[in-house]
Amino acid sequence: MNRMSIGTGSQKSQKFTESVIREMTRLAESYDAVNLSQGFPDFAAPDAVKAAALDAVAADVNQYAVTWGAKPLRDAVAREFTRRYGVSVDSETQVTVCCGSTEAMVSTMLATLDPGDEVVVFEPFYENYGPDAILAGAVPRYVTLHEPDWTFDPDALTAAFNQRTRAIIVNSPNNPTGKVFNRDELTAIAELCRQWNVLVITDEIYEHIIYDGIRHLPMAAIDGMADRTITINSLSKTYSVTGWRVGWAIAPPRIAGAIRKVHDFLTVGAAAPLQAAGAVALSLPETYYTELAVGYQRRRDMLLALLEPRGFVPFKPDGAYYIMTDIGAFKFADDVEFARHLVTDVGVAVVPGSSFYHDPVLGRTKVRFAFCKRDETLRSAGRRLAALTPPVVTDLGSASVR
Ligand SMILES: Cc1ncc(COP(=O)(O)O)c(C=O)c1O
Repeated sequence: MNRMSIGTGSQKSQKFTESVIREMTRLAESYDAVNLSQGFPDFAAPDAVKAAALDAVAADVNQYAVTWGAKPLRDAVAREFTRRYGVSVDSETQVTVCCGSTEAMVSTMLATLDPGDEVVVFEPFYENYGPDAILAGAVPRYVTLHEPDWTFDPDALTAAFNQRTRAIIVNSPNNPTGKVFNRDELTAIAELCRQWNVLVITDEIYEHIIYDGIRHLPMAAIDGMADRTITINSLSKTYSVTGWRVGWAIAPPRIAGAIRKVHDFLTVGAAAPLQAAGAVALSLPETYYTELAVGYQRRRDMLLALLEPRGFVPFKPDGAYYIMTDIGAFKFADDVEFARHLVTDVGVAVVPGSSFYHDPVLGRTKVRFAFCKRDETLRSAGRRLAALTPPVVTDLGSASVR
C-alpha cells in the first residue's frame, strides 16, 4: 500500500471535504452578507432555559456529569419521548447524552458499524452523515429523494439493501428539504430493515418544527421498530441553543452500551450545567412548542413570499427551517457560481445545493435558504434580493436572466 506522507492526513480524512455550510458562514462574515446559510437562530433562547443554565453554574454544577448524561436530563428525555409517542424508554439503560446530535450521530456510527459495512443515506442529506459513515470505516449508499414532494422510489430503496447493509439514516423533518416522512414511507423503510436485519438511525432534531398541522412520527413508534432504532435529538434547534452542544441518542440497551463506551472515550461528556438546563428546557409547557412551530411557519411564509417574485422556484417545506429552491431559471453555470454571486454581489449567503448530494450534478440548480432568523434579518435579505435581476420567462416557458 502506498502510504501517504506525513502531513496529508489519514486516507479517511481525504475522502471528504470541509463543511460547505460552515464555509458559507465564514464567507458571509467576510462580505458582511445576511447569513441565511447555516441553521442557527439569530434570536434569543427562552429566558427560563438561560436562567436555568446560570443557576446551574452558580450552584456549582461545574464538574463532569455521569459520562452518559446527568440523570435529570436522561429522565426528561425518556419521559418526554414516552409521553409524546407512547414508546417506553428506560433512562438508565437507553439514553446517552452527547455533545450535540452531531456527536450522538458519530458515536452511534462508530459504535454500530464495522469497516466494509454499508449505510443507506437519503440525499439531499445533512452533510455530516457521509463523513460520519466514512470515519466509521463504512460505505455510504445514496438513495435520492425526488422533488417536489421529496419521496423515494421504492425500487431504488430496495436495490440499496444487501447483506453488507448495517444501517439506514433517516432525517425527519428533513434538512435541507423540509420533508416530513409519513407513515407509509416509514413503514416501507421498516419492512426493508426487518428483512435485511438493519438498524435505523433517525435524526429527529426538527421534531417540533413542523407545519400546517402535520405531526411528527418517529421511526421508533412504527410497530416493532423500537428494538432496531436509534433516535437522535438535541437541545440545539428546539430551544435555540445551537452553541450549547447538548444532544442525545435513545437506543435499545445493548446498542446504548456500545454508544456509551464510544462517547465516553470521545468526549467524556457534555457540559454539566447545560445538561441541568436541558432538563428544565424539556419541562417547558406545551404552549412553548406550539408557539415555536407557529413562529417558524410564519417565517417560512415570509421567506417564500420574498423568494417567489424574484424568480426562485421554492419547494415549500413541511418541517425544519430551510427552503430548497430551484435556481435553474437564473441560468448560472451552477449552484456554486450562483451562491458566490449572491454572497459577494447581492449580500445574502445561502448554501449551494450540490453540498447536499454525493454527485454535485444533482444539486446544480438548487440552493438552500435558512429562515431561523428574526423578521428584520429576513426583511433585510429581502431588500438585498430585490437587487437580483429576476429571470425573464419566455413564451416557451424557459427563462433567462443575463
Ligand atoms: C439534520 C441535522 N442534524 C444535526 C444537526 C446538528 O445538530 P447539533 O447542534 O445537535 O449537533 C443539524 C444542524 O443544522 C441538522 O440540520
